[in-house]
Amino acid sequence: MRAFLLLLLALPVLAADRVATPYESIRGVLQELAPPELKSADARAFAAWAKDKDSAIRARLHQGDLDSMVNLLFYGTSFTALPRMTLENFAAETRAGLLRARLDDLLKASPVGNERLGFVKTLLAGKDAGPFVLDNVQRVLKEKIEINAQIAQQDSAANAFSTRGVSLDTTILPNYAVDVALREIQARGLLRSVARAAIIGPGLDFIDKEAGFDFYPLQTLQPFAVHDSVRRLGLGTPSVTILDISPRVIAHIATLRTRTSYTIQLPRDTTRSWTPAALEYWKTFGPEAVDPIPAPLKNVETRAARFPVPAIDAADLNIVGQQLRLKPEEKFDLIVATNILVYYNPFEQALALANIAAMLKPGGFLLSNDQLPVAPSVPIRLAGQSAVTYSEQPLTLDTVYWYQR
Ligand SMILES: C[S@@+](CC[C@H](N)C(=O)[O-])C[C@H]1O[C@@H](n2cnc3c(N)ncnc32)[C@H](O)[C@@H]1O
Repeated sequence: MRAFLLLLLALPVLAADRVATPYESIRGVLQELAPPELKSADARAFAAWAKDKDSAIRARLHQGDLDSMVNLLFYGTSFTALPRMTLENFAAETRAGLLRARLDDLLKASPVGNERLGFVKTLLAGKDAGPFVLDNVQRVLKEKIEINAQIAQQDSAANAFSTRGVSLDTTILPNYAVDVALREIQARGLLRSVARAAIIGPGLDFIDKEAGFDFYPLQTLQPFAVHDSVRRLGLGTPSVTILDISPRVIAHIATLRTRTSYTIQLPRDTTRSWTPAALEYWKTFGPEAVDPIPAPLKNVETRAARFPVPAIDAADLNIVGQQLRLKPEEKFDLIVATNILVYYNPFEQALALANIAAMLKPGGFLLSNDQLPVAPSVPIRLAGQSAVTYSEQPLTLDTVYWYQR
């Protein structure tokens, strides 16, 4: 009983109800953007489709977890003293036995005190570990090649990820883009205060990129970054609601309930030449600088920032098929959704947009770095966009689109 009470205290409480997308609100979206077989779906047929879609989307999380396992194998330093793999020399490094040796170290390492390895062990439970990991390595490499070919062909990432595993990876950079967008929206006089903010899919920093690391505890950045941008711009100190399908993200947010501060590690690969503005954002990120965990690697500069924990709650919610039922005064002034809607096709994105519009206050903004199909029947419009450059070498660009209710 005591354990149950403690669990209740530890969990963020979300008063609002989660509901399936009301059929009436997306009738127009069906007519305007649905694939032919769904265009004339009635409420029952749509509900059945949405239920299946929800299971299919949630199943994609598992494949994203396996992708994270592969990235840990390539780039992790918490279980091995061997060098990290590099994408440029991957074939030669594999021929020289580096991949195999890293795999041996990964499988031998103790998960005690290492959250990432503990998670990998759960993924490997009951499997023939070595071959299983190597099969996933092959799949991930094949997908990387396919995605690059698709991006090169279409000159954009649109749809390249819409059937892939859903990963949780996150970095500081999209938060810099959101910060730029908020500044520009404020300068135009379009946003005067933010009392309630929501983050859809804040993610967890596991290691998912070549420039990712695993020498510090798993962390989330976006809830703190967005709250701090809003505060620094003098727009308020909003409550933050997290909406995500990942039980790992929700559980991580739940741990914040018992904390007054949260420290974020900010390692930066110095071989990438960030723009002066991105660098300035990194250098001044967070209200209070603290000593970082030293990086066990060359070419990594690091800092750390401590944040007070804002009023924060979280709900398991699939934005493609669900929304929170909110009273007018509970609706959000700002919703941020970066690097999440890219996982969905245009029809699914249009449904997500309908769910987001229903949760925004009139005049409120969605900021997303995906350009989304706006069905005429959904009360939300593209109001502007902010283009940012993260790094010159390699050239890495992003655009944040401002959708206003
Ligand atoms: C790649 S991470 C992006 C993290 C962060 N927003 C960023 O830009 O760095 C994608 C996040 O979206 C969440 N997500 C994916 N599909 C979702 C859905 N349909 N509804 C809610 N959350 C979703 C994932 O669980 C994960 O937390």
